[in-house]
Amino acid sequence: KNIAIIMGGYSSEYKISLNSGNVVYNYLDPTKFNLFRIHVFKEKWAYVDENNMETPVNKNDFSIEIDGKKIIFDCVFNAIHGTPGEDGLMQAYLELLNIPQTSCNYYQAALTFNKRDLLSVLKPYGIRSAASYYLNWGDAIDEDKIIDTVGLPCFVKANKAGSSFGISKVYEKEKLRAAIEDAYKEDDEIIIEAFLDGTEVSVGVIKYDGKTTVLPVTEIVTENDFFDYEAKYEGKSQEITPARISDTQKNKVSELAKKAYDVLKMKGFSRSEFIFVNDEPFMLEMNTTPGLTTESILPQQAKEAGISLSQLFESAVQEALN
Ligand code: DAL
Ligand code: MG
Repeated sequence: KNIAIIMGGYSSEYKISLNSGNVVYNYLDPTKFNLFRIHVFKEKWAYVDENNMETPVNKNDFSIEIDGKKIIFDCVFNAIHGTPGEDGLMQAYLELLNIPQTSCNYYQAALTFNKRDLLSVLKPYGIRSAASYYLNWGDAIDEDKIIDTVGLPCFVKANKAGSSFGISKVYEKEKLRAAIEDAYKEDDEIIIEAFLDGTEVSVGVIKYDGKTTVLPVTEIVTENDFFDYEAKYEGKSQEITPARISDTQKNKVSELAKKAYDVLKMKGFSRSEFIFVNDEPFMLEMNTTPGLTTESILPQQAKEAGISLSQLFESAVQEALN
């Protein structure tokens, strides 16, 4: 089988995606699959060979041509974080071409990538989230109204982005506007949320051997003020799996993450973030193409569950092909 591992993408997360994609490339078994690394950038989509030589991708049918021979793909391993890999665009394109891919379907990707919409869809299922205020590009910014709704401190976030790009924690009304302007660099929608003071945990839910499987819960402890880019990628945090929370808390948050996965009819990988305020978990978001490097959270959780990186990635391909 020919497997295209797509990586890169059009968002600020492209470098992280290249790391994820290269780890997938290194851990999938080349004796079982023909592996092709495909870079997806705005300027060009290209197959990148062992010597880093590039061959353009034909976007009409997502094929490449090597030595005059056309190669079509049996499956795409989606390692793109952010647009167009995590927001449904790639999923819809590949579905139209009848090429199976490892992440969730286009609707689920678009929905989950939109923090506001995800949280509002999940609310009636008993999945709580922080008080929030939403802004669309061009909306008037009424600081008093925002603070009346979410209080201080609050989090200003790009509504559709990852890896904490465009996120700030705001302590003073005077800093709100600058934070909003900063978040608009990443997205044309902003979500401002109440600060939840508690323990942050991350819950991976995947399809494994055909079954919805909840992985061991990870606790996030950061040296920084919150789990920002530096905390995530420059060592300013500890990610502890299994989380040091009570069994009751573990069960509760695992149940909620699985419920979210099931009611949304997800497939592929997911990693949902929650904050416990006392014993009550509040959902922050769900990532459907989570980081896949050896240090990333989902691979650590899989490892704790006795699933190696090779097994994790191979199962994703098998699930997509089934
Ligand atoms: N958005 C990053 C890659 C993650 O969720 O792991
Ligand atoms: Mg995220």
